[in-house]
Amino acid sequence: MLLRMNLSAAQLASYDRDGFLVLEDFVDAEACAGLRERAAELVRDFDPEGVVSIFSTHEQTRTSDDYFLESGDKIHFFFEENAFHPDGTLRQSKERSINKIGHALHDLDPAFDKFSRTPEIKQLVSDLGIEEPLLLQSMYIFKQPRIGGEVTCHHDATFLYTEPLRLVGLWFALEDATVDNGCLWAIPGGHRLGLKSRFMRAEGGGTRFKVIDDTPWPEEKVQPLEVKKGTVIVLHGLLPHLSRENRSPKSRQAYTLHVIDASSNYPSENWLQRSLEMPLRGF
Ligand code: FE2
Repeated sequence: MLLRMNLSAAQLASYDRDGFLVLEDFVDAEACAGLRERAAELVRDFDPEGVVSIFSTHEQTRTSDDYFLESGDKIHFFFEENAFHPDGTLRQSKERSINKIGHALHDLDPAFDKFSRTPEIKQLVSDLGIEEPLLLQSMYIFKQPRIGGEVTCHHDATFLYTEPLRLVGLWFALEDATVDNGCLWAIPGGHRLGLKSRFMRAEGGGTRFKVIDDTPWPEEKVQPLEVKKGTVIVLHGLLPHLSRENRSPKSRQAYTLHVIDASSNYPSENWLQRSLEMPLRGF
């Protein structure tokens, strides 16, 4: 199903230098289509009644959102910020309104579980130096046509911090990603700038950002990562990246998986937590 490969010394050197690595043709077209179809089924079976969570990276929305906070060991659905009329009704179909699904698809959905635990992904994560892998988080991102929202510059370590930091993000393009439909952008080498902030559960409920370094990102150095369907982009946990709005008529669907190392401490203040009945698992 997937192309079997081992990373070369040159690829590892490139990953160390840039903080990301682009591997084309990692997922074949059939597997890409399979995940897209499964995500469509999940959305079809999702009843949006009662769920008024509007996904946004803007602090105040996220901070007050219990549905988001509880999603670490569930399959939850988050809407695009521009999905609603002022009266709270959807502007278009449910299928065209979901921003993403998260954050335990890889443990709770058989199709995503199977995909996430293929030997090729296990090998890739091992090649990247994760010795005792734990699959921490998964997301299915739709980047809907016309209304796909912006994700501002961040690094994933802010949200998925470990001590010491051992975090790898895998971003699987399930459709072609271009500047027009909201591809990833990254600051090459920006992973060496160090940790900027942590997104944590606050005492007494809710969440907060703990700022460690408030120097602005050097966003003038950001570069687009336009990739073909089937490409995986490997992201160092400290790599600054973003994606812009999708104003085009094409969606830009992607599946992301974040892996940590069991030898690192996963702090209990991190926003994403699991219940005791659903511990993290490896491959
Ligand atoms: Fe990210």
